Amino acid sequence: MLGMAAHELLPLQNSDERARHSFLIDLKIVLQDELIKGVRESYEKRARPADEAATGRSHKHRHDAARALENDPSYQLWSALGRIQQDLYVDSTAECVERQLPRLQANYQRLVSAPQKHGTLALDASITPPRYISVVDIHCIPGGYFSDNGDDDIAVGARYDIGSYIFGRGQRGSMNDTRGQTGVKFIKTHWPDFKPRRILDLGCTAGMNTLPYVDAFPEAEVYAIDLSAPALRYAHGRAEAVGRKVHFSQQNAESTNFPDGYFDLVVSHILFHETSRSGVEAILKEAQRLLAPGGRTLHLDVSRRLTCTGPFDQFIADWDTLNNNEPFWGAFLFDMDVPEAARQAGFSHNSVREELAPTPSGKARYWALSALKGEA
Ligand SMILES: C[S@@+](CC[C@H](N)C(=O)[O-])C[C@H]1O[C@@H](n2cnc3c(N)ncnc32)[C@H](O)[C@@H]1O
Repeated sequence: MLGMAAHELLPLQNSDERARHSFLIDLKIVLQDELIKGVRESYEKRARPADEAATGRSHKHRHDAARALENDPSYQLWSALGRIQQDLYVDSTAECVERQLPRLQANYQRLVSAPQKHGTLALDASITPPRYISVVDIHCIPGGYFSDNGDDDIAVGARYDIGSYIFGRGQRGSMNDTRGQTGVKFIKTHWPDFKPRRILDLGCTAGMNTLPYVDAFPEAEVYAIDLSAPALRYAHGRAEAVGRKVHFSQQNAESTNFPDGYFDLVVSHILFHETSRSGVEAILKEAQRLLAPGGRTLHLDVSRRLTCTGPFDQFIADWDTLNNNEPFWGAFLFDMDVPEAARQAGFSHNSVREELAPTPSGKARYWALSALKGEA
């Protein structure tokens, strides 16, 4: 699978799929790094001056750029190609997984029924996912995170594993775990003496970004939750396949069944932008409840929250809200005061920090919100 390390649950590409997935990665790179330059030029030279002259107002907000570019041919072409890339990516990852699902499901059954199993999985069929994640087919994937054909269905997780690698332009490392690795690097850099005994990862999907915490803190018990049963089955099987101990359970991060103060570290990776304003507020309150005094929380999400300024860049960053079924994306990136939500949730005011966290290679960055429970 491209540059991913093989394990027993990883869907393997045939030569057609390899070619298709490489093409989709290249198309995304060309769209985001090259063709966007022409759209920017159109905006600066034509669309913006024309719109400012027509409205008598200078552009300040992403909605100004949206109005100006809506009928601009270079933006329309770029956006249409972006949507085609996304649709092809959805179809080609689904085909790749479905073609080999019986073999992957047999591997899953064997891994999770092995007597020397490391971790656990607790599913809860009574969970009702919040509307923000259930009323849209997120990322334009039919069924979103919730298409589930029964007890050994792991397709959602398998698609997420390879899909996230392709969506990430093939730059997420051989274990597809750059976000988890970035969280660990952040902790080791900022809190070198911090030794969490219990760690919780919220919204883990396929669990690849949970595993770096297992390796970084071998003495700790590691837990991970999500709303999606097929994602959690895959996450559990994948962790077993690579010999890592994690306790997975199907729970809502806004209101979990763990006791007060059970954890020393609560993390999430690109969870926030897929929730809602009240969802982020509730998740931060729940993280605060779950932490023991002196415990820390760390939430990573996309860097564009801090790196995109100005109407054009913010409008382009907002593409996923308008075209990729990510309803909260733009509001999370540009409209919500997340540090204030953390303070309101009860975290020590002067501990709340919002910054960019470099990946271990230093080639990319994630947005990071960190906070402490109690006084430093
Ligand atoms: C973009 S994925 C995050 C993937 C994973 N953390 C990673 O870095 O690869 C978002 C995940 O959050 C889950 N999710 C969304 N809202 C949630 C909630 N309230 N409680 C638990 N999980 C939630 C979704 O089911 C989905 O699997």
